[in-house]
This record gives sequence, structure tokens and C-alpha cells, in this order.
Amino acid sequence: MSRVSRGTVAAAIPTIRIVVDEAERRLAAAGIEQPALEAAWLLEHAVGISPLMQRVHAGRELTVTESECMRILVSRRARREPLQYVLGTQEFCGKAFQVTPAVLIPRPESVLLVAEAVRRCANLPAATVVDVGTGSGCLAVSVALALPEARVFAIDLSAEALLVARRNMVQHGCDARIDCREGDLLAPLDEAEWLQKIDVIVSNPPYIADGEMSTLQPEVGGFEPRLALAGGPDGMEVHRRLLQQAPTYLRSGGALLMEVGLGQAAAVCRVAEEGGWFRAATVLHDDAGIGRVVCCEKRESRRETLSSNS
Ligand SMILES: C[S@@+](CC[C@H](N)C(=O)[O-])C[C@H]1O[C@@H](n2cnc3c(N)ncnc32)[C@H](O)[C@@H]1O
Repeated sequence: MSRVSRGTVAAAIPTIRIVVDEAERRLAAAGIEQPALEAAWLLEHAVGISPLMQRVHAGRELTVTESECMRILVSRRARREPLQYVLGTQEFCGKAFQVTPAVLIPRPESVLLVAEAVRRCANLPAATVVDVGTGSGCLAVSVALALPEARVFAIDLSAEALLVARRNMVQHGCDARIDCREGDLLAPLDEAEWLQKIDVIVSNPPYIADGEMSTLQPEVGGFEPRLALAGGPDGMEVHRRLLQQAPTYLRSGGALLMEVGLGQAAAVCRVAEEGGWFRAATVLHDDAGIGRVVCCEKRESRRETLSSNS
């Protein structure tokens, strides 16, 4: 006699094909742009089978535990939680970084900050670099890996973010060279010890204007930390504060490199130049042609200028 009693319907055996197809339908209904790809990545995370092998073994049955794990991942993504938080990782500068909702998900355009910091320190045997607002630690770690002799500080106001940054530093074997400090902008640096000694300050500060916070896509506005996004009425509050604080710590010729949002570069350059501490600011553009990083190089002090002219 059949094990399924008459009148009852046997549940479909959840094979890879059935589970991936169902996940794709749910993700598409939730407005996810690439539902088939993401369904395959989520299944890879749940059961450890690559998208290629999912196709080869499409008829393989999933265990109850595997099906349940996949169901939870798909539900999270269908609520528009960023894929990176669901998978717990994001690639940056060729390395995997752990991410949680305590940190901003690293963006590809921020590589510009790393490249410029490394370029400026390439000929300095033991450069000192400060990353303000380190989040996942992606900038601090990438700079430390590219400059093995450099000393790096990683500062954040969020203790939770610093825990994630610390894990990434350990994972990439550079925790011994990066000094993590909790606090507001450059305040955690001892002023007497670091007065005019820093070579480069990099920062990807929060730069979304208050009025734009409600227009962000659901993945960003609903899940990424507000502290990492909100930059005050015009989005440039943190840039202004950094431009005021940085000259105390930068050596002459040292640089403050700041990421900016769409349309902010010219205004940030103006503020930098009005302060009188920096040479004419320059702007680096990202692959989309958007002014993305403002570079402010500290002028020589008056005393140094006089002595070099004599
Ligand atoms: C846009 S995220 C950048 C994270 C990371 N550096 C990156 O590029 O992916 C900004 C970071 O600055 C931190 N932050 C915001 N205000 C701060 C402040 N006043 N002092 C220090 N860190 C701050 C936030 O907690 C957040 O981690």
C-alpha cells in the first residue's frame, strides 16, 4: 500500500530546481532586479553548492535543515535586506570584508580613496594614515595591506562598527598595525603626540542630505546605519568639521582625502580653500564621471616658507 494515504497530497520533494525556482519567484515579486542570480547565490550560501553545480545537480533533494535555512535567507532578502548583510560579506579592493547592519556596505567607488592615499605615501618609508569613520575597516585594511610599513589609525563613533572593523583586520592579518579608536572624528588622536605629524587622513563620511534620507532605495534607507549616511542639512556637515580639525594633525604637504556625494565636490573644495590651510583642492572622478574624492593638501606653514626662501 502507498505510504501516502488516500485523500492526502504528497508534498513536492524539495529538489534544488524546485527550491531555486520558488526563490526566484519570491524575489522577483519583491522587486529584486536579478532574482535568478540572487536565488542561486542564496542557495550557495545555504548549502555550499556553487551556482554551476546547482545546474548540474538540479535534481538533488535538499534536507529539511537546508530547505529551512534557504527559506529564512529568501525571506530576509524579499524584505529588501541588502544581499551583503544576508550573506555577511562584501568584496572590496579584491578582499572579502565581513559586514553586518552595524556598518556601511563598502562601495566600489571608495577604492579611489585607497589608491590616492597609497599613491601619496608610496615614497614615505613609515607613513601615518588615519581613516576617519572606518565602518567595516575596508579603507584602513586596504591601505595597511598596500603599505606594509605604514602605521594606520581607524576611528569610528560607533563601538559596534569598530567590532566589525576589528574582525576584518584580524581576518586580513593587519590588526597589529592598525590602531582602532572610538570617538568623534579626530578627537581620539592625542593632539600633543600627533600635532602636524599625520601624512594622510582618508574619510568616507556620511554625506546624504537630511531631505534625501527618505528617498533612498529600501536596501539603503531601511537597513544601513543612519550614522553612516546622514550628513546634516546639506550632507556636508562632517566634511566641514574635518576641514577644520585636519590642519592641526596634518604635516605640511600632508593631505585630507574625503569622499563626497553627487554634486558636492565644488562646494567642499570652496570650503577647503576659504579656510586658508590648504592649497587649491583637486577632485578625483569615479567611473561614472562623478566628482567623488576631494583632495586637500596642507600648505607649508608660514615659518617653513620663510626658511626655505632664505
Ligand atoms: C559612510 S560610512 C563609511 C564606512 C567605511 N569607511 C566605508 O568607506 O565603507 C561613515 C562612517 O563614519 C562613522 N561616523 C559618522 N559620524 C562620525 C563621527 N562624528 N566621528 C567618527 N565616525 C563617524 C559612521 O559610524 C560610519 O561607520
